[in-house]
Amino acid sequence: MASATSYILFLSIFSSASALGAAQPRQSNISLDTSLYPTTNPTSWHSPNGRFAFGFYPEGTGFFIGIWLVASPENSTVIWTADRDDPPVTKDAVLKLTNGGLKLLLQHSEGRLISNISTGTDASSASMLDSGNFVIYDSNFHVIWETFDHPTDTIMAGQVLGSGSELFSSISETNHSSGKFQLSMQTDGNLVQYPVASPHYPADANYASGTNGDGYLSLYLDDKGWLYLHQGNVTSNLTSGYQNGTALVYRATLGVDGIFRLYSHDFELNTQQVLKEFPQVTDPCGIKGACGVNSYCTSANGQVVCMCLPGFDYFDTNRTWSGCRRNVTTTAGCYLGNDNMTYMSALKSVTWMDDPYDAPLSVTSDEDCSDACLKDCNCDAALFSDNTCRKQLFPLRYGMRDDSTTTFIKLVNTSAGGSSHAESPAAAPVIKIRRKYRAGRYRRLWRNKEPALVDEIAPRSFSYHELREATDGFKEELGKGAFGTVFKGALPRGQRAIAVKKLEKVVDEGEREFRTEMRTIGRTHHKNLVRLLGFCDEGTNRLLVYEYMSNGSLADLIFKADGHPNWDERVRIALDIARGIHYLHEECETRIIHCDIKPENILMDDNWTAKIADFGLAKLLMPSQTRTFTGIRGTRGYLAPEWHKNAPITVKADVYSFGIVLLEIICCRKNMELEAEEDAIVLLDWVHNCFMDGELERLVPDEVDMTELNRLVKVGLWCTQSEPGSRPSMKNVVTMLEANVDISLPPPPGFSS
Ligand SMILES: *[C@@H]1O[C@H](CO)[C@@H](O)[C@H](O)[C@H]1NC(C)=O
Ligand SMILES: *[C@@H]1O[C@H](CO)[C@@H](O)[C@H](O)[C@H]1NC(C)=O
Ligand SMILES: *[C@@H]1O[C@H](CO)[C@@H](O)[C@H](O)[C@H]1NC(C)=O
Ligand SMILES: *[C@@H]1O[C@H](CO)[C@@H](O)[C@H](O)[C@H]1NC(C)=O
Ligand SMILES: *[C@@H]1O[C@H](CO)[C@@H](O)[C@H](O)[C@H]1NC(C)=O
Ligand SMILES: *[C@@H]1O[C@H](CO)[C@@H](O)[C@H](O)[C@H]1NC(C)=O
Ligand SMILES: *[C@@H]1O[C@H](CO)[C@@H](O)[C@H](O)[C@H]1NC(C)=O
Ligand SMILES: *[C@@H]1O[C@H](CO)[C@@H](O)[C@H](O)[C@H]1NC(C)=O
Ligand SMILES: *[C@@H]1O[C@H](CO)[C@@H](O)[C@H](O)[C@H]1NC(C)=O
Ligand SMILES: *[C@@H]1O[C@H](CO)[C@@H](O)[C@H](O)[C@H]1NC(C)=O
Ligand SMILES: *[C@@H]1O[C@H](CO)[C@@H](O)[C@H](O)[C@H]1NC(C)=O
Ligand SMILES: *[C@@H]1O[C@H](CO)[C@@H](O)[C@H](O)[C@H]1NC(C)=O
Repeated sequence: MASATSYILFLSIFSSASALGAAQPRQSNISLDTSLYPTTNPTSWHSPNGRFAFGFYPEGTGFFIGIWLVASPENSTVIWTADRDDPPVTKDAVLKLTNGGLKLLLQHSEGRLISNISTGTDASSASMLDSGNFVIYDSNFHVIWETFDHPTDTIMAGQVLGSGSELFSSISETNHSSGKFQLSMQTDGNLVQYPVASPHYPADANYASGTNGDGYLSLYLDDKGWLYLHQGNVTSNLTSGYQNGTALVYRATLGVDGIFRLYSHDFELNTQQVLKEFPQVTDPCGIKGACGVNSYCTSANGQVVCMCLPGFDYFDTNRTWSGCRRNVTTTAGCYLGNDNMTYMSALKSVTWMDDPYDAPLSVTSDEDCSDACLKDCNCDAALFSDNTCRKQLFPLRYGMRDDSTTTFIKLVNTSAGGSSHAESPAAAPVIKIRRKYRAGRYRRLWRNKEPALVDEIAPRSFSYHELREATDGFKEELGKGAFGTVFKGALPRGQRAIAVKKLEKVVDEGEREFRTEMRTIGRTHHKNLVRLLGFCDEGTNRLLVYEYMSNGSLADLIFKADGHPNWDERVRIALDIARGIHYLHEECETRIIHCDIKPENILMDDNWTAKIADFGLAKLLMPSQTRTFTGIRGTRGYLAPEWHKNAPITVKADVYSFGIVLLEIICCRKNMELEAEEDAIVLLDWVHNCFMDGELERLVPDEVDMTELNRLVKVGLWCTQSEPGSRPSMKNVVTMLEANVDISLPPPPGFSS
C-alpha cells in the first residue's frame, strides 16, 4: 500500500471517464476486467470515504484478499477475508472482476472464483462501499453479491448476521484462518458462542443471549453502535447506543480469544475503543475452549498458557492451545484387580467440565477416589472435591485452576509390563487406548458367556479392517439412509449377523461429538430400539455396527401391495414403536429427540418386533431444551409444522411424526398418495374428515374392531395437532394405546400442507 498516490491517480482518471463524474468519489465504481495485484498497483480498491480497502494484503508467506480498515493502527484491522482457509497466494496472482464474479488468476494452476461467487454471467460492476461492504452489481445496478452476506469474524454497522449464520474467530491476529470459536445466530433466536471443537451443548457455551424462543431472526449492528437482535419491529438490545461524532465507525468482532467485542473507530483521532464485551471475563481462562482437550488453562499477565495433563504431550508444540494426547500409546489391556500395570497420578487444584459416565461416588478421602478409578476399567480420570468422586473418560475438557478439586489421571506403568512405544505424530492415541481397553474387555466377557453383562456394556470399537472383513468388502448393500449406506455382515465369533452403516454426512463433526454420541447411543437399550453393537472411528472412516434386523422395515411391511399385517399385528407394532420413542424421550439417561420417525426407520427383527433405528444421530436433546437445531433434519410428510416456523424443536416433533406413522399403520397407506381420490390424497385430512363424518370404515383395508379403530384414530389425531403443546407426551400415547381409557375428541389437526 506504499504507492497509494499513483493508485489514486489511476483511479481519478478512471472515475472522470465514468458517467458519474464528481459525485462519485474515487474508485467506488469498479468496472469489468479491472484487476488487482499483490505487489504492483493497484493492490486495492478503496471506499469513497477512504476508510476501507478491498484487495490483497500480506499474510504468512503470501497474500490474502480481504477488506481492512485503512490506517487503523498499521492497517491491521481486517474485517473480511476471502477463502480464509485456503493457502495464501503468491505475488504473481491477479484478481480480476469478470462477468462471472471476482476471479483469481494464478500462475501455476487454474483460476478460480473467489468464494465461488455465483453471479452467473451477470456481474457488470462492483463497489467498495463506505460501510465496509464490497458489492457486485448486475447491469441494472442490483446488488447480486456482497461481502456483508458472507461474514468471517466481523459484522460492520449495517450488517446483519442472519438466522442460522455464524461468525468464526481467526486463528490469531496475524492469521485470519478460522479459529477456535464461533458465534451462532441460532434458528431458535438465541445468539450463542461455542468453542468450535465442542458438541455445542448449553454446557459448552461461553455466552448466550438467552433469547431462544423469542422469535429473533438476526443480529444487527446499526450506525450508532446499537447491537441488537431483531425480527420485524421487535428488538432485544445487547448494547445501548454510543454515537459520538461522525468520525466513528462501529464494528463487532468475535476475537481470537472467543470474546465478541463491539468497537468504535475514530478516524479523526485514529483511535479504536472497545465498548462492550460478550462475555465479560477478567481471566482469559474463564473462556471454555481457550485450551484444547486434555490440557488446562493457566494465565500469566493476561496471556493464556495451556498445560498438558501429566503423561500427556501437546498435539503440536507450536500450537500449545490445540490440546494434548498421551505421550505413549499403550498396548496394555485392562487388568482388572491387577493394579500394578496402571497407576493414578494426581494433579492438584485443577478442575474440568464435569461429565461423569457414572453416578458420582461418595468417598471419604481422595485416595478412595483414586482407587475407585484405578479399579474401574472404563475410568480414565476422576475428579475429587467435597468428598465426591466423579469418574471421567478422556478427553477431558475446559481444564482450569480450582483449589477445591484434585484430578486423578490413570497412567500405564510401562516398567511394570504395560508395553508402550512412542506415539507417531499422525495417530490419535486417545482413541487407540480406548479401543484396546474395550476390545480386551469384550473378548473376555464374550468368552465367559455372560449375556446379561454383554448386553449392558457400551459399544465396542472396531477397526476399519475388521469391518471390511466382516462385510466381505462391503459387498451386500442393505439400504441407503439419511446418514449413509448400510451393509450386511457377520461377526467372526458366533457368526452373529450385523448391519454396518457407513456414515457419509456426519463425518465432519468433531471426534468428541462422535464419541459422545456413540456413548449415548450405546447406553440406550430398549426392546424396541435397534441395538448399537459398536463403531469404528478411524480418520474419516466412521461406521456404526448394529444388530441385524432380518425382516426389513415397517415400510416394506405396510406399504406393499400384496398383503399387510392383520389388525392385531398392526396395533401391536404401533405400541412397540410408541414404547421405543417413549423410552428415548423420557426413560433413557440422555433424552433423545429422534427427529426422523418414519416407517423406513422402523425395522422388524426375527420375531417381528418393531425396533426404531437411527436414533441419536440427530443432535441430542438436553434436559433444558435449549438445545436447538440448525436445520431441518426430518423427512417431508412426517415433519411437524414447527420445523417450518423456526420454532424450537422439542420431543413433541417426534410425537407428530409418530402420529403420521400411526395413521399410516392403521390405514396401510402412505401419508400422501397422489393416485387416491381427491379428498383422500393427504392422509391426515382424509382421516380427519372420515372421523368427523363417522365413516371410519373407509380408512382401513380390512374388517376391524370399530371401537379400537376409533381409539387409535383419535390417538393419531391428537398426536398430529399443529400446536406442539396440544399433542400428548409419548407416555400418554402409550397409555392410550395400551389401556382402554377414554380419549376425548381431538380438535381438527390444523390442516397441513
Ligand atoms: C460504473 O462506470 C461505468 C462506466 O465506466 C458505468 O457504465 C456504470 O454505470 C457505473 N456504475 C456505477 C455503479 O456507478
Ligand atoms: C494459519 O493457521 C493455519 C492453521 O494453523 C495454518 O494451516 C496456516 O498455514 C496459517 N496461515 C498462515 C498464513 O500462516
Ligand atoms: C495503510 O494504508 C494506507 C492506504 O492503503 C497507506 O497509505 C498507509 O501507508 C498504510 N499504513 C501502513 C502503516 O501500512
Ligand atoms: C469451488 O468450486 C470448485 C469447483 O466447482 C469446488 O471444487 C470447490 O470445492 C469450491 N470451493 C468452495 C470453497 O466452495
Ligand atoms: C409490531 O408490528 C405489529 C404489526 O405490524 C404491531 O401489531 C405491534 O404492536 C408492533 N409491536 C411493537 C412493539 O411495536
Ligand atoms: C433499542 O435500540 C433501538 C435502536 O436500535 C432504540 O431505538 C431503542 O430505544 C432501544 N431500546 C431500549 C430499551 O434501549
Ligand atoms: C462520548 O462523549 C462523551 C462526552 O463528550 C464522553 O464522555 C464519552 O466518553 C464519549 N463516549 C464514547 C463512546 O466515545
Ligand atoms: C510419559 O509421561 C509419564 C508420566 O509423566 C512419564 O513417566 C514418562 O516418562 C513419559 N514417557 C515419555 C515417552 O515421554
Ligand atoms: C514448529 O515450528 C518450527 C519453526 O517454525 C518448525 O521447524 C517445526 O517443524 C514446527 N513443528 C511442528 C510440529 O509443526
Ligand atoms: C511401576 O512398576 C514398577 C515395577 O513393578 C514399580 O517398581 C513401580 O513402583 C511402579 N510405578 C508406579 C508409579 O506405580
Ligand atoms: C503384577 O501383579 C500380578 C498379580 O497381581 C503379578 O502376577 C505380576 O507378577 C505383577 N507384575 C509385576 C511386573 O510386578
Ligand atoms: C424370538 O422369540 C424366541 C421365542 O420367544 C426367543 O427365544 C428369541 O430370543 C427371540 N428372538 C429375538 C431376536 O428376540
